[in-house]
Order: sequence, then C-alpha cells, then structure tokens
Amino acid sequence: MAKAIGVDIGGTGIKAGIVDLKRGKLESDRVRVDTPKGASPKDVLKAVTEVLETLDVSKSDLPLGVAFPAIVKNGKTLSAANVSKEWVGFEAEKFFEDGLGRDITFVNDADAAGVAEVRHGAARDMGGLTILTTLGTGIGSAFLLDGVLLPNTELGHLLYNGTSVEDASIEKWCAYSAMERENLSWEEWSARLQVFYKHVEFLFTPDLFVVGGGVSKHPEKFIPLLELNTPIIPAIHRNSSGIIGAASLAAD
Ligand code: BGC
Repeated sequence: MAKAIGVDIGGTGIKAGIVDLKRGKLESDRVRVDTPKGASPKDVLKAVTEVLETLDVSKSDLPLGVAFPAIVKNGKTLSAANVSKEWVGFEAEKFFEDGLGRDITFVNDADAAGVAEVRHGAARDMGGLTILTTLGTGIGSAFLLDGVLLPNTELGHLLYNGTSVEDASIEKWCAYSAMERENLSWEEWSARLQVFYKHVEFLFTPDLFVVGGGVSKHPEKFIPLLELNTPIIPAIHRNSSGIIGAASLAAD
C-alpha cells in the first residue's frame, strides 16, 4: 500500500501522521506537540524530530512532506507572520533536510491542506476555482483551478485598516485566534468573516469555498451565518488536511 509521512507545522501546534495515499486518510495516530515559543528554526526542527520519533518513522524511507505557515518558494521561506523572523529569506528546506538527514518535500501549510481537500476531500472532482482558507492562528489560503494548485496566495494578508502586512493583515482581525484573543461570540466573529469572504468573493468569483483549520470542527456555529453567493463548506479532513496534503505532495 502506498504510504507517506506528513508533518504540518502551525503557529500553535506541530502535527504529524502516516498517510494512506490511496484512501487519502491517516493510517496512524495523529501526533502533536505545541509549537515552541518564538518558533525559531532550531526549536522547530527539534519539535519535528520529536514528532517523527513518536511516530516511529525517524529511520523510515517513506516520502516525507513538511508543511509550513509561510510563503515557500524554491525551498526558501519568504515570510514569517506567526513564527520567528529568522525564517524570512531562510533556506528552510535544506535546513530540515540537513537536520533530519533525509530528503523532504517542503510546502506552504494551506497549500498542503488545499491539495488534500481537492484530491481526497471536500473539493474532490470540483471543476473551476476552489478557494480553501484555513482559519487558525493565521489565515492561510489555497487556490485550486480545475484541481491544479496555484501556490502562495496568502489571502490572510489582505490589508484591513492599515498599510502594511506588519500591522494590518486581515488575519489579525478575523483568524480564529482573534476570536479567542478578543473573546468574540460566534456572531461577532462571523460578522468579521463575512467582510473577509465577501471581499475575496468579489475579487476572485470562486466556484467553491472550503473552510479548514481546527474550527472547521464546528461548521454549524459560523458557516450558516455567512451570506455569500458562493457555496461554502467545511474541509472533510479538518485539522488533518495539512498532514495529508504534505504527504500526498511528497509522494508525487
Ligand atoms: C501565513 C501563511 C499561512 C497561514 C496559515 C499566515 O500567517 O502567512 O503562509 O498559510 O498563516 O498558517
């Protein structure tokens, strides 16, 4: 059976699992550790090593995909919204390969989640444009046109009341972390999401929105409150999409 390992590094947690590529499902437990405070390259590498050890795959020769919450271009991380600024312009793929002593496939976390949902989940067999957004510590996005990924779209950094991504990224105002930080009710938070999704809908006229991230466990709390012309549905693999997509891309 075709298998691969996926690691999903997020602003809050680092999760990993072994993926059955045919069924597009986790076939192991989902292992998780907290993202180390400050999320420096050195500490993140240590945490990734730890989840791989817990999964008992440190010496495995299965393909390994690693998803990371930043712009990823030619193996380099080019941004750092919820992780250490050391990642900006950093040879991240090489750093992980050297540190883990093996080849990896290194991708953006929302792009990985989008690939999982288009290959094995909510956007399977969807023609046209699907936009997946992950609502977590930040907001990630993946554009899939007829199933093909357009990487690094970064919709969480549309500007809201300000002029730079340093202080005015819309994710600071409407990611799931904003709801927790500001103690917003579902209604208050959904009103913010409405502004975000309405604007994205106007800009791109997608055929489908898929909502990922941990909060997609509770779709009934906010999806019915959104008024959009585009269908909007939760990710089927919820918080495991990043793991599944990273593994799936690693096996390509
Ligand atoms: C990052 C994205 C990432 C998203 C979700 C944003 O702050 O810029 O690259 O996909 O958070 O983790």
